Amino acid sequence: MIKKNVWKILLATLLLSALILTACGGGTTPEEAAPADTAVEVFSWWTGGGEAAGLEAMIGIFNTEYPGVEFINATVAGGAGTNARAVLATRLQSGDPPDSWQGHAGQELIGTYVAGGQIEPLNDLYDAQGWLAVMPETLIPLISQDGNIYSVPVNIHRANVLWYNPAVLEANGVAVPATVADWIAAMDTLQAAGVTPLALGEQWTQMHLLETVLLGSLGADAYDGLWAGTTDWASAEVKAALDNFVTILGYTNSDAASLSWQDASQLVVNGDAAFNVMGDWAEGYFRELGKVPETDYGWAPVPGTVGVFQFLSDSFTLAVGAPHPAAAEEWLTVAGSKAGQEAFNPIKGSICARTDCDPALFGVYLQSAMDDWASNKVSGSLTHGVVANDSWKSEIDTALGLFMADMNVETFQAALVAACASSGPCQ
Ligand code: GAL
Repeated sequence: MIKKNVWKILLATLLLSALILTACGGGTTPEEAAPADTAVEVFSWWTGGGEAAGLEAMIGIFNTEYPGVEFINATVAGGAGTNARAVLATRLQSGDPPDSWQGHAGQELIGTYVAGGQIEPLNDLYDAQGWLAVMPETLIPLISQDGNIYSVPVNIHRANVLWYNPAVLEANGVAVPATVADWIAAMDTLQAAGVTPLALGEQWTQMHLLETVLLGSLGADAYDGLWAGTTDWASAEVKAALDNFVTILGYTNSDAASLSWQDASQLVVNGDAAFNVMGDWAEGYFRELGKVPETDYGWAPVPGTVGVFQFLSDSFTLAVGAPHPAAAEEWLTVAGSKAGQEAFNPIKGSICARTDCDPALFGVYLQSAMDDWASNKVSGSLTHGVVANDSWKSEIDTALGLFMADMNVETFQAALVAACASSGPCQ
């Protein structure tokens, strides 16, 4: 009987010690205890039109390098992230972040995710990978705050591209326009000939058109000043730019609101419209459709913006509270690598963020974009997160929505003035 009790006490003591050891980490270091991540969830809005194919190519590199990690490709369809960003916001609010998500370099990243304490600094990864030596100097400040670097840029896109159908222009005796006035004259000719001059899509593509018309009408310095608070939104110059916008909208298809960016840009390569203003992801789409550069489509800077590269950059983040932080770093390592960027960008329709990619891997359009990126004046995009924080952008978007319904320039300009005062630098 006594013997039995001794055994019981011994067993209880052993169990207790085991419990205490487990609670204290079992005497192992946290590194030893942490199991390797077996999955990583990456969130984006790249679901089609060349974009999904580009992402797949980069995932291919990831799978080769990290075969033990399942890549969870979490995408929400909708150009420019209009739907995806709403879903992401809900997930972040409910404490359910994906490990890594697509965010635009600039105010979108800094003003939203960094300001909200939602993403981790990546300085150690930058040091370990030597990325400061291969990422453009212009980009680092746009993804940094207080000495911390917050994301890994995978590409550089150009926003101010005028895509055109060479055969349609030729058939109507229209030259590729370089100025806003030439563009309007060309569209007049085309409209008189029964051709849709300018293909347009849903509201974010209308904001995209607006920002390029502002740039083309004001010039790069005054355009930059809109975002820095040095160009007066109430000025006669801005009024003239908005007047141009109204005139240009008069040459667009009436069903714009119901078309995605792919629908609208496809009108050009199919010969149903002469022009479309869209970022160069449209080129990834044209290639996916099997269209031939310089034959099925041509390109030029949006009229008035020759010599200016209006850019944006997709970058990937590391979530605070990422469920799989180690695998997220592995994903980011691929996203920032030469192999990852060389696989992704030629298909996506963008140039590498890295400065050491091999130009021979890229088609004729992207090679011209590389030259322009290296030599042009660089300005930032509004629609794609560079120049304005989310609340300012959303006020502009609301004003634009009302304007598209009433076409009242005075009311629109007053709303833009108010937006800069409430959410921008025009206090
Ligand atoms: C942009 C994004 C591009 C492309 C585009 C259309 O905001 O930066 O990579 O996805 O939207 O969806």
